Amino acid sequence: MVSSVESVVGTERKVVTEIPGPKSQAMHARRKEVVSHGLTQGYPIYIDRAEGAILLDIDGNRILDLGSGIAVTTIGHAVPEVIEAVSDAVSKFTHTCFMVTPYESYVQVCEELAALTPGDHAKTSALLNSGSEAVENAVKIARLATGRQAVIVFDHAYHGRTNLTMALTAKNMPYKDRFGPFAPEIYRMPMSYPFRDGLSGEEAAKRAIAQIEAQVGAKNVAALLIEPIQGEGGFIDPAPGFLPALSKWTTDNGVVFIADEIQSGFCRTGDWFAVNHEGVIPDMVTTAKGLAGGMPLAAVTGRAELMNAVHEGGLGGTYGGNPVAAAAALATIKVLRDRNLAGRAREIGEQIVSALTSLQKDTNIIGDIRGRGAMIAMELIEPGTKNPNAAAAKAIVAYCNARGVVALACGTFGNVIRLLPPLVITDEQLADGLGVIAEAVRSL
Ligand SMILES: Cc1ncc(COP(=O)(O)O)c(C=O)c1O
Repeated sequence: MVSSVESVVGTERKVVTEIPGPKSQAMHARRKEVVSHGLTQGYPIYIDRAEGAILLDIDGNRILDLGSGIAVTTIGHAVPEVIEAVSDAVSKFTHTCFMVTPYESYVQVCEELAALTPGDHAKTSALLNSGSEAVENAVKIARLATGRQAVIVFDHAYHGRTNLTMALTAKNMPYKDRFGPFAPEIYRMPMSYPFRDGLSGEEAAKRAIAQIEAQVGAKNVAALLIEPIQGEGGFIDPAPGFLPALSKWTTDNGVVFIADEIQSGFCRTGDWFAVNHEGVIPDMVTTAKGLAGGMPLAAVTGRAELMNAVHEGGLGGTYGGNPVAAAAALATIKVLRDRNLAGRAREIGEQIVSALTSLQKDTNIIGDIRGRGAMIAMELIEPGTKNPNAAAAKAIVAYCNARGVVALACGTFGNVIRLLPPLVITDEQLADGLGVIAEAVRSL
C-alpha cells in the first residue's frame, strides 16, 4: 500500500493541465451546488492522494505543498508509520467514547503530552477534536480553577471560530463579521509586533501589563491566552523578552498563562513548542494540528491542580481522543522524535530565511521576514513605506498556485505570505518552491 502511494505520487512538482484542471473544475461546479459558500474556496484543485510534500490532484498535477494543510501534516503526507498505526487501530475499534468505556491510547497520548510540554510539574490533559475546542476548554478550566472571569487576549490573535473563540480572535473579516453577539469578559491588549511598534519585548510587555491593570485589574483575570508566534494574524513573532515578562506577571498575580501552540507546536518552530525558545513554562498549553499527522485531535494540557479542579463530567465530548486519532498521534510523535524533525525544521528555516533575505535585498516589497524554524513569513509592503500590500500577497499566492505550489497568505491586513512546509520536504523540493516564490515576487 505504501509503495503504491510512492509510485503514484512521485516527488517532483509537475503541472500537466491548466490549473485548476478540467476534472477539478467540474468538481468545483458540483461543490458549489451542495457545499456552503461560507467556506473559503482557496486553491480549487481536488486532491486524489498525497505523499511527503507532494499532493496529486484528480487531473494528475503534482502540487508542492508549502502549507501542510495549515500546519497539520508536519510529518508529511502518507507517512508509513501513521498509516500502519491508523489501520491497526481501525481494525480493532473505531469508537467507544472514552467517557463511557476507556482505552489505553488516550492515556498514552496524555502521558506523551505530560512529558513533552514544558515544565516538569505534574500535568494532566483532556483530549478534544479541534483547536477551537481545546481553547474553549482551557478558558473554562482557568475560570473554574481561579474563580475569576476575565480573559486577556492580544491584537492579531486567532483562536478559532466557535462562539467563545470568535470573541478571542481579533480579526473581524472573515471570522466574526455579523456573527455576534460574542462572549463577554474578553479583553484585548496590544501585541509585541517588532516590525510595526519598534518596542523591545520588555517595553511591549510593560505596555500590555499597564493596560491590563488599568482596564481589567489583575485580581479579576482568570487567564492570559497567547500564541507564542501568532499564526493567522501574520506570523507575528514577539520581541525577545515579551513572553517571559508576561509569564512572570501571570505567576505573580495568580493568572493562568495559556500558550496556544495549536499552530506553532510539535516541532514546527524547531523545538517541541515555540515557548521553549525563551524557556517560558505555561500553566496550560493548547495543541492540535501537528499533533496527530492529519487526524482530528486536540488537547489541553496543564498543571494537574488546575486541570483536576474541574468536577467529574465538566470536561469531555463524544469524540474527543478518538482511538484512531490517538493512534495517529502516538505514531506522529514517534516520527517527530525518531527523525529529529525539530532539527530538520531549523534547517528548513535557515534555507527559507536565506532565500527570502536575498529576495528582499533586490526587490522592494518585502518589509519583514520573521518566524522560527519551518514557520516563516514575509510581510509585504508598498515600496518605500510600511503600508500593508495585500494585493501583492494575493498575486503571489495566485502565481504560485498556477504553477502547482500551495502558498498561504495570512495577517490582519492580508499582506503576509507564510510558509509551513512539511518537515520531510527535501532540499530540492524546498529550493523548487522557494524558486517559484522568488519568481512570483519578481514578477510584481
Ligand atoms: C493558534 C490557533 N488557535 C486555534 C486554532 C483553531 O483551531 P481549529 O481550526 O482546529 O478549531 C487555530 C487554527 O488555525 C490556530 O492557528
